[in-house]
Formats: sequence, C-alpha cells, structure tokens
Amino acid sequence: MRRYVIAGNWKMNMTPAQTAAFIKELAPMVAGKDKCDIVLCVPFVDIAPAIEAAKGTNIKIGAENVHFKESGAYTGEISASMLKEIGTEYVIVGHSERRQYFAETDETVNLRTKAALAAGLKVILCLGELLEARQAGITEEIVSMQTKLDFAGIPAEDLKNIIIAYEPVWAIGTGLTATPAQADEACGIIRRVIGDLYGAKAAEEMIIQYGGSMNDANAAELLACENVDGGLIGGASLKTDKFTAIVDAAN
Ligand code: PGA
Repeated sequence: MRRYVIAGNWKMNMTPAQTAAFIKELAPMVAGKDKCDIVLCVPFVDIAPAIEAAKGTNIKIGAENVHFKESGAYTGEISASMLKEIGTEYVIVGHSERRQYFAETDETVNLRTKAALAAGLKVILCLGELLEARQAGITEEIVSMQTKLDFAGIPAEDLKNIIIAYEPVWAIGTGLTATPAQADEACGIIRRVIGDLYGAKAAEEMIIQYGGSMNDANAAELLACENVDGGLIGGASLKTDKFTAIVDAAN
C-alpha cells in the first residue's frame, strides 16, 4: 500500500559543516528503519555535503525550492537540472513560507513542479489554508482549489514522483498542531480532489503528508490517520533524537 515518507525541512538552518555532522549522527540512529522513506530537505549550499554524508545510508537528500526556468537571467535562482546534476533526489515546492514571504503563487508552484519533474526530481508539493480560511469555514474550498491549480497540466504518469504535503499555515512553526481528525479530514479532501482529477487508483496511491508542528510527541497519532502518509517536519527535523522518534513512529 502507500509508503510513509518522513521528510525534514531544515528551512534556513545549518551550515555545511553542521550538515555533515548532523547526518553522521543521524545515520546510525535511523539505519534499517526501512518501513518509511527518510528525506532531508536542506539549504542549497548544504546539499552537496549532505549527499556526501548520506552515501550508503537510507537518508535521501532534497532541496527546499527550485526555479521554473531551465537557465537564464534569473539572478540568485537555482534550476532543476543544477540540482539533479549534483545528485539531489527531492525538492520542496510551494512551501507556505515561499508563498507568504516570496510571493509564490499557485501558478509558479505549478511551473516549478513541472520543471522539477522534467529534470527527474521528486517533488514534495506543499499546500494548506491560512488561519483566516479555517476560521471562515472555507478550508475545503481553499485546499481543493490549490490542488487543482497546482496540478494543472500535470499528466497522470508523473504522479508517482509527487508527494503532497498538507500544511495548515496556522500550524507551521507555531506549536499549534492540527488534531488528527483535522489532518485526516484535510488530507482526505485533497485525496478526493486527486481522485476527481486522475481517478480512484491515483487517489489511492497518492502519498499525502501532514506538516505543521509535527514532533516526537504527536507523530504517532497523526501518522495513524488513514489519509496521512507521512510528515514534513520543520523544527523537529533539526534534532536527531526528535527526528528519529518520528521515523520510529512511522515504522
Ligand atoms: P514545523 O514546520 O514542523 O516547524 O511547524 C513544518 C514545515 O514548515 O514544513
């Protein structure tokens, strides 16, 4: 059936030297825990040292963003083929911090996803509602719309290379976690939309993570939800013991 994916999102934390030390410490702690895929998405300059440190382990390495053009006059940006060439396997697209602070839209999220897929990367596509939307009772409308826009024009054969991360914005970095029922409901809504777009089999196979203050204490009950197939973890992915505890919960 669906496989759990436990992915860390380091955000703007860790230097290259800290990255190598962290992975050397983490690797024996998660060795052999193969009932889930384990991914660390790290800042661009940390990717190469992370890949080096993770060689021969069950830890896979991803980036936190990618530009949608192949090359050209886009100062400060990184293309999918650059990431692919150095051995990056995954990339986060559409994180709410990118949407909030860097003016990402569903249109650019869609373009970035297509560029990443074309280069052979696996995409962790993030979406989720703002607090205002939840309070207004329009979570379903918002996540449905995001799913439809973010997947526009993406062919069914690419779905195996996409993981969706449902991340309610009000739960990210706030210590406020969605209840298991809220997480399961929203992930179920997204799964239903994938079913409407691509059919029942695609919906059944789609890996949908929950993200937003997932930690060692709440991971087990969130991961036990029918529609939750893993986690995208920020703060708790910066500590080897906490991250390992989440991997254990998935196992
Ligand atoms: P958090 O971040 O676990 O620190 O809330 C999750 C994320 O932003 O992906």
